[in-house]
Amino acid sequence: MALTLSEKAKNVKPSSTLEITARSKALKAEGRDIVGFGAGEPDFPTPKNICDAAVKAIQEGFTRYTPASGINELKEAISEKFRRFNHLEYAPDQIVVSNGGKHALTNIFTAIVNPGDEVIIPAPYWLSYPEMVKLAGGVPVFVYGESANDYKVTAEQLEKVVTDKTKALIMCNPNNPTGMIYSREELKPIADFIVKHDIYCVSDEMYENLIYTGEEYVSMASFGPEVYDRTITCSGLSKSYSMTGWRVGYTGSSKELARAMGAVQSHSTSNINSVAQKAAVEALNGPQDEVESMRQAFEERGNYIYERVAAMPKVTAPKPEGAFYIFCDFSEVLEEYYKGEKIETTQKLAQILLNDYDVAVIPCADFGFPKHVRLSYAISKESIKKGMDRIEKFINDLALEDSGEMAG
Ligand SMILES: Cc1ncc(COP(=O)(O)O)c(C=O)c1O
Repeated sequence: MALTLSEKAKNVKPSSTLEITARSKALKAEGRDIVGFGAGEPDFPTPKNICDAAVKAIQEGFTRYTPASGINELKEAISEKFRRFNHLEYAPDQIVVSNGGKHALTNIFTAIVNPGDEVIIPAPYWLSYPEMVKLAGGVPVFVYGESANDYKVTAEQLEKVVTDKTKALIMCNPNNPTGMIYSREELKPIADFIVKHDIYCVSDEMYENLIYTGEEYVSMASFGPEVYDRTITCSGLSKSYSMTGWRVGYTGSSKELARAMGAVQSHSTSNINSVAQKAAVEALNGPQDEVESMRQAFEERGNYIYERVAAMPKVTAPKPEGAFYIFCDFSEVLEEYYKGEKIETTQKLAQILLNDYDVAVIPCADFGFPKHVRLSYAISKESIKKGMDRIEKFINDLALEDSGEMAG
C-alpha cells in the first residue's frame, strides 16, 4: 500500500481567503502599512460582559467536558433567540452547538449527503460550500445570480438545475460575498421550490444581525411547517458578537437531524470549549446594545465604501444591504494593461494591489465569479478611506499608462 493521500484530501482546495489574509498579515509584520480588505472578521473587541462571563466560568472551574451538542443553558438561550429574532420554534433538543458556523455546516453535510447526492449552490457563493459538499461525498451544482438581480437567484433558475439526485439547496442570506439580502417576496418562491421538490434547505443565516435596509430579517424556515421541516437553520456568534475566535456556531433542525448531527459531533470534536459556551449564554441573554452599535458602524462604513466605489471609474457594485462585504465587478479593469502586461485575472489584480499599492482584496474566482473582487469593510473608516484612495490611485495610474504618461 503506497503512502498516498485520500481522494477527498487531494480534491479539497485550501481556503484562499485565509491564505490572502495570512499573506497580508505577514507583510504587515514586516512593517508594511497594508490595508486589509480581506478578512471576514469584525475589528471590534468582543463586548466586555461576554469576556467577563468567560473569566467567571474559568474561575468557577467550568472547565470540563460538557454534553457533546452543548450545555442546556446555551441551547435554551439559542432557542429563545430563535423565538425572539427569527420567529422560529426550535426546542433545545433541536439545537446543536458546534465549533463555529463552519463546523455546524460540516455537520449538516455529513448528516444529509450520500455519495453522489447533488447540492445546489447559488453563485456567487461563500467559498467553503463546494469544498464542504465534496468532503461529504456530494456533488456541488452551481446556479449563477445575475448582476441585474443583484446576484440573487430565482426559483425559475433553480428549476433548471434540479434533478432527481438533488438533496439540498444552500441559501446564504445576507449573502457573503455580495452583501445582498433576499426579501420575503424573493424567498417565498424559493421556499415553494424546496417543498415542491422535497429537498433540504441549508439556510446559512450567519449575518442575520447585520442588516442595513431597515427591514425585519426573514428566515427561510419561517415560511410555514412544510418549509420548516425541510430547513436546517445555521447561525453563530462570530460575526454578530465579534466572537470569531471563540468558535460558537449552531443549528436548528428537526429532532432527528439534531440527534444525527450530535452523534457525528460526539465522535469528532465532542463539545465546543466549555468556557466559550458560558460566554455565548451571556452574549445571547445579556444586553444587546453593543450588537446594535457594531451594526450601525458597519452600516456607516458600508455606505461610505459604496460611495467611493460608485465614484470610481471602471468598477461597479451593488449597494451593500447586509453583512460587511461589497462585491465589485472589475471586468473592465481586467482588460487594462499594467506595466505593459494585460491584467486579465483578479488573482493578478490582487497581487498588484498587494505588492504595489499595499491593499489586500479577495479575488472571487473561488466564489464562482472570477471577474469580481470582494472588499470586506470590517475595518475602521480611516483604513477604508486609505485603502480606497490607494485603489483609486491604481485605477488612475492605469489611465495614465493608457495615455503613455507612465511609459518613461
Ligand atoms: C456565510 C458564512 N457562513 C459561515 C461562516 C463561518 O463562520 P465561523 O467563523 O463561525 O465558522 C462564515 C465565515 O466567514 C461565512 O461567511
